[in-house]
Amino acid sequence: MSAVVAPMPLSDAQVQAKSQRSTHLIRQFDDLLHDFISKGGPLPREYSVLNRAIRHLGDAVRVGAIRPDDLDTYIEEVTRTYLPGTMQAEAMESKYGYSGDFEIIDHIYTRRTHTDPNLRHWDLFFHAQAAPVAVRNRKAYFQQLMEEHRQAHGSRVLDVLNVACGPCRDLREFFLEQPEAAVAVDCVDMDARAIEYGSRLCAPWLDRIHFHHQNILKHSPARPYDLVWSAGLFDYVSDRLFTHLIRVLLQAVKPGGEVVVGNFSDYNPSRDYMEIFGRWKLRHRSRETLLALAAQAGADLHQTEVRWEAEGVNFFLHIRR
Ligand SMILES: C[S@@+](CC[C@H](N)C(=O)[O-])C[C@H]1O[C@@H](n2cnc3c(N)ncnc32)[C@H](O)[C@@H]1O
Repeated sequence: MSAVVAPMPLSDAQVQAKSQRSTHLIRQFDDLLHDFISKGGPLPREYSVLNRAIRHLGDAVRVGAIRPDDLDTYIEEVTRTYLPGTMQAEAMESKYGYSGDFEIIDHIYTRRTHTDPNLRHWDLFFHAQAAPVAVRNRKAYFQQLMEEHRQAHGSRVLDVLNVACGPCRDLREFFLEQPEAAVAVDCVDMDARAIEYGSRLCAPWLDRIHFHHQNILKHSPARPYDLVWSAGLFDYVSDRLFTHLIRVLLQAVKPGGEVVVGNFSDYNPSRDYMEIFGRWKLRHRSRETLLALAAQAGADLHQTEVRWEAEGVNFFLHIRR
């Protein structure tokens, strides 16, 4: 057995050199960023330059050349000073105490942009990132999934559980397309403001939607469902909680029904942008990990598959019962 060797502590000179290198790399990035700021934000043809520089920042953090705290302080400062009110500022601010709240998700769905033309270019840059594109794609994925289940059901009422429903923009758009759909949807969210927001967006269809202000970990589903859907929740939880939740949700599905949960994939080209500029940290999972977790939760792997939206950034774990 090999002995674990503790790393040698750095000398004062080494600590100072490291700190100087970190400051230097951040300054280099700052020069580039200020070029863009002075021009009123990046244009689409310049996105690749800025994205490459952001990935270099990420690499520098990973190899220890930039201290994460230095970078975080710098990004916060620059965002507050030059980019107030942008999507980036909104992500960083975490107004409701966590990244990915119902409001920012809805601003991604609706492509909210600043009214100031100089700041607007920064929002367009944000919305063009792979992750926001994938989030918008998952809204379309949900609608398609609902439609597939509805058609398979014929005239029978389709029972749906929407876990961590957030703004319910996806549900609203489903109903706008299918106003007469024979569905009964239970929406669960632990944020009362999300429930309020979703109820307003879906006001015309409250005869078929019931909202439950509850933590899914404490919620006991009152009836069995044909489809259990959850996006934007599982990529925040540990593997242990992931399997626990899958087990709980599988019990809520009728035989022949399915649980479908979204999770950011291990391919996310905008991960550094999200983490560095938005403090938005998710648990990215590979296809293999998702299948392994499903198996641990008791899913039959012959009835389980992983699909994805067009960007390949959002995976969807489908488990049939
Ligand atoms: C990223 S949003 C996703 C919203 C929506 N599913 C979508 O894809 O548009 C995450 C939502 O999960 C909710 N949430 C987080 N943890 C939860 C829990 N344990 N139980 C219920 N809701 C939860 C948050 O309040 C938030 O509204």
